[in-house]
Amino acid sequence: MSQAPTPRVVHADALDLARTLSDVDLVYLDPPFFTGRTQTGRDERAFADAWSGDINAYLAWLDPLLVALRDSLAPTGSIYVHLDWHAVHYVKVRMDELFGYDHFLNEVVWLYGLGGSSKRRWPRKHDTLLWYAREAGRHWFEAARIPASSRRLAGQLKKAPDWWDIPALNNMAHERTGWPTQKPLALLDRIVRSSAPPGGLVVDPCCGSGTTAVAAHAAGRRSIVGDVSAEAVALTRERLRGLELSVP
Ligand SMILES: C[S@@+](CC[C@H](N)C(=O)[O-])C[C@H]1O[C@@H](n2cnc3c(N)ncnc32)[C@H](O)[C@@H]1O
Repeated sequence: MSQAPTPRVVHADALDLARTLSDVDLVYLDPPFFTGRTQTGRDERAFADAWSGDINAYLAWLDPLLVALRDSLAPTGSIYVHLDWHAVHYVKVRMDELFGYDHFLNEVVWLYGLGGSSKRRWPRKHDTLLWYAREAGRHWFEAARIPASSRRLAGQLKKAPDWWDIPALNNMAHERTGWPTQKPLALLDRIVRSSAPPGGLVVDPCCGSGTTAVAAHAAGRRSIVGDVSAEAVALTRERLRGLELSVP
């Protein structure tokens, strides 16, 4: 059995869960992206991302969740909100209002490579993560190091920049669970290790297949993750049991 803390997996609406939390070191929020369709994965696993009305219906759902998550953070805590072109610009403006413009830390661009091509526009091959601190300057951060690409620094490590070239999961990937829009462990590993202290508390209230819980466990961080979908919760628990964890 591992010594790392066992994640807690909760079947709950994100807002209800967020309102029970305090002193959180890191929130990773990967909500529906406002794509306007049902996201479907393998074995008919799916979650709804359709909104009656325009972007305002989506923001009306997200706003109170962002407020509750902000209030759950420790003074040294921070939050990543993972989105794409559908809503990220609207949410940036909202988060500036809710967190304060001065507490914005980075817009991290995740370059994932896979995805459709188009003859009519540039192929969309990235997501955007908005990173805000509860109190910029007091937030915990330890920059990730990646292999330097320049010839001069060959063989050395350098601090990762604000764009991350991490492959998306392909259909053959070992870690693939079949949950739609599952994120790669390498992405969550970087977020968790760089932005939550060892032993700190990581929260993911829209956990899907539980990637954050797996990454937090491997990195020696505590975690509380939840999802409104009973299927996602069952899948997350199953995935964690695969690591020989007895999951509450
Ligand atoms: C983009 S997916 C998360 C994928 C996840 N990061 C992974 O690696 O598998 C979004 C998740 O949000 C969940 N969700 C949607 N509305 C929710 C709500 N109100 N409360 C909690 N979870 C919600 C969906 O069931 C879905 O699993």
